[in-house]
Amino acid sequence: MPRLDDALITPLRDDLGAAGFTVDGVRALWSDAAGAALTRSHRLPAERELAAGREAGELSAAGTLAWLFVLGLQVSEAELEGALPRTGVRGALGLGLVAAEASDRLRPLVDLRPYAFTDGVGSAQWWVSSDLGELALGHALEADHVLGIGGASSTLSGLIVPRPARRALDLGTGCGIQAMHVARYAGSVVATDISPRALEYAAFNAALNGIGNIEFLLGSLFDPVAGERFDHIVSNPPFVITPRVEEVPEYEYRDGGFAGDELVERVVRETGAHLEPGGIAQLLGNWEYRAGADGLDRVRRWTEGLDAWVVERELQDAPQYAETWIRDGGTRPGDAAYERWYAAWLDDFARRDVDYVGFGYLTLRRPADGAPTLARFEQVETSGANEAGLGAHLDGALAAHDRLAGMTDAALSAARLVVSRDVTEERHSWPGDENPTVIVLHQGGGFGRAVQADPALAGFVGACDGELAAGQIVDALATIFEVDAGELGAQLLPAVRELVFTGFLGFAE
Ligand SMILES: C[S@@+](CC[C@H](N)C(=O)[O-])C[C@H]1O[C@@H](n2cnc3c(N)ncnc32)[C@H](O)[C@@H]1O
Repeated sequence: MPRLDDALITPLRDDLGAAGFTVDGVRALWSDAAGAALTRSHRLPAERELAAGREAGELSAAGTLAWLFVLGLQVSEAELEGALPRTGVRGALGLGLVAAEASDRLRPLVDLRPYAFTDGVGSAQWWVSSDLGELALGHALEADHVLGIGGASSTLSGLIVPRPARRALDLGTGCGIQAMHVARYAGSVVATDISPRALEYAAFNAALNGIGNIEFLLGSLFDPVAGERFDHIVSNPPFVITPRVEEVPEYEYRDGGFAGDELVERVVRETGAHLEPGGIAQLLGNWEYRAGADGLDRVRRWTEGLDAWVVERELQDAPQYAETWIRDGGTRPGDAAYERWYAAWLDDFARRDVDYVGFGYLTLRRPADGAPTLARFEQVETSGANEAGLGAHLDGALAAHDRLAGMTDAALSAARLVVSRDVTEERHSWPGDENPTVIVLHQGGGFGRAVQADPALAGFVGACDGELAAGQIVDALATIFEVDAGELGAQLLPAVRELVFTGFLGFAE
């Protein structure tokens, strides 16, 4: 793991910047096919494409850094000196980034790569270090492996509601990625982890990227922040359900050592006590479906006392789940352990009568005052295009919920609404038939939801241009469809509330 040395971190940052070691810079080093192979954990195509230039002494500084820290291959001292002139080989050794091998060779000790993102503040680029992956190590991961930015990390960072916070908490910070993201909105951040190695990485990454408002605390779950409250909590906790069998490794980065989904339950249940009134928690998790019952109903019980919006994005059956997580650690079908671990997972699931495991995200809020008003537990496939992530959409939905919760139907009828610019309408009709048999409203951003609408609701949405009040549109539609306006309003307004919450419609003022 890297060693944080204040005197060396600025030269390193300057070197990485001067080398053009950026996401685009690295992508341009090899073909798309080689890049795709890398994402499938095969480095050979990229290695071959860089090798010729390297042998001719023509590899750029970014190429050398990618060769070393992304592909996990060795370089000569002269090569590293050329790529990191301010840091130098001595500096890189001092920072614990490389180790000397025989005859002038240096091998990487960490994975270090550029990371680009767009959020509510704007676009930015960082460098993030983590433990070397399977590809560079050539073997399965160690139990104390510190993970880099994976799919779940990006899911959570994209969800972060871009809301100013006085104090924020990242529980289970790993390489520090969520803490660094939330630090863009928060006055100060506390980042915790049970792994001292993870905290070393996280502190190094924050310093490398010039982020100074994060405090790093060692300890399990909420222990390091006992009695403290935060405006914003984020956590990608070690939620992976793992059989408690001696030979199945307990990977610290993904498994908190509890049975079943108990770790997620504990994090969810303990979150409320650590939120300021009105504070928000955003968590990822897995939950079990036991004895044929809906897993979301179990999650509902964990969230008592809080506003809760839980989105289940994926559902895997028990064997699929086992296969996913056995492979994740680098164990493949055909390896000696594979079948035994598979059996251990199935035995573990059978013990609690688990047939499915849900994955998704929880947005929890401690009510500013009074009882919770939001309880939404749903399965949604996310297909919306959101350049800056889903965070702004979630924020808008919470604000819409609060406004709607305080509105009677009469007040809603008096409001003027506008259809969002990303909404399109799809109509299907039988050949030759003038009237549509199916109308579907599609959302381009947000969750990319599709909603089936009857002609009255489609007509309502189509008329929402901010000119007429909702009630006036209902009256006009009642005349067109020759129905009672009161009855039509009673039918449409719940659907209108749903469309406002989900972002198809917004308030004109
Ligand atoms: C899935 S990783 C998330 C890392 C990072 N936050 C991200 O989003 O990529 C979970 C992290 O939780 C840490 N962890 C495991 N058990 C923990 C516990 N009991 N209390 C706090 N953190 C724990 C692991 O060391 C790991 O860094």
